[in-house]
Amino acid sequence: MTPPPFHPPQRTLMGPGPSDVHPRVLAAMGRPTVGHLDPRFIDMMDEIKSMLQAAFLTDNAMTLPVSAPGSAGMECCFVNLVQPGDKVVVCQNGVFGGRMKENVVRCGATPVMVEDPWGRAVDPDKLRDTLKAHPDARLVAFVHAETSTGARSDAETLCAIAREHDCLVLMDAVTSLGGIPVRVDAWGVDAVYAGTQKCLSCAPGLSPVSFSERALARVRGRQAPVQSWFLDLNLVTGYWGGGAKRAYHHTAPVNALYGLHEALRMLLEEGLEAAWARHRRHHDALRAGLEAMGLTLVVPEAERLPQLNAVSIPAGVDDGAVRARLLEDYGLEIGAGLGALAGKVWRIGLMGNTCRRRNVLFCLAALESVLSGLRAPIQRGVAVDAAMAAYRAPA
Ligand SMILES: Cc1ncc(COP(=O)(O)O)c(C=O)c1O
Repeated sequence: MTPPPFHPPQRTLMGPGPSDVHPRVLAAMGRPTVGHLDPRFIDMMDEIKSMLQAAFLTDNAMTLPVSAPGSAGMECCFVNLVQPGDKVVVCQNGVFGGRMKENVVRCGATPVMVEDPWGRAVDPDKLRDTLKAHPDARLVAFVHAETSTGARSDAETLCAIAREHDCLVLMDAVTSLGGIPVRVDAWGVDAVYAGTQKCLSCAPGLSPVSFSERALARVRGRQAPVQSWFLDLNLVTGYWGGGAKRAYHHTAPVNALYGLHEALRMLLEEGLEAAWARHRRHHDALRAGLEAMGLTLVVPEAERLPQLNAVSIPAGVDDGAVRARLLEDYGLEIGAGLGALAGKVWRIGLMGNTCRRRNVLFCLAALESVLSGLRAPIQRGVAVDAAMAAYRAPA
């Protein structure tokens, strides 16, 4: 028997991504599909490229969305920039630094790890010491916004240190783009990848990337061909490169790209600075409410991401039961801890279209009600007021 049509349940997505997709983006994705070499579509691709340059704050000509999720953007950066036998310094302070290491190994290169505790930023001094001890390293890779912990690393300083040691820089901006400043040119990032499903208010499935001239020179100078056919920049540019003449490489996800076009239009209409300020404002209110309830955030204040809030689970509280009640009773998704933080934290996302006052207040009220029902040791009746007081405080 044919199954009935799939109608997804109504959810408020306050986990680590995907976040709520804006209705304008969903409407754009529902428009009629055209051919991926249609001249009108190619014009739209050019607009996506220039809007991505604006979002990444870069003039890099090689700025485009990879037709696959953030993990493919990560892999695209590594397979193009790393050759067998290279030495790559990888900073790890959570799950995604670990995936970077795995990419380096699979490229036949040697990772040199700079390890920091989960929930802390990457320590610039450790990177400096590691680069001194490994003068033959060719690349430094780090995650700007570690979604597994909510820690934000000082990308500008890490880039400067890498540059002092003549290394290219590869940065993960999956969770940072659109939520906090990402200044690709000013910081000197050579390769960066992001995701559409976090602070861009877009559906999952695409990964914007950008490569500097320095990075492209390294790609051109490779001895070994890029081992991935699909992600080889030399081939991808035949389709995404400039000018009206485009060669077939793969069938672009046409409707997903309509969505990204609309999401980028929305980001630029709002303005980058305003989007960053919005994420900060709602984070401040959420934090005020959580702390009033007696809950604590894992990451020290100076290293916190506004868009991903890792909250310690109070002793004796059943992680899974709370998340299940939130989902079933309120249609509210928050994230579980990953890796070393599994069972120890909840991850509350305030990303993109999710990052709004009514969601902050809804989340606080729902969490308070569920925790009270489970007799968790929290302060009752204060969280929403604390958040409202934060909203009234001068910016
Ligand atoms: C920091 C970071 N890097 C990479 C990824 C992988 O992205 P995707 O799940 O879209 O493949 C994620 C996804 O959550 C992420 O948060």
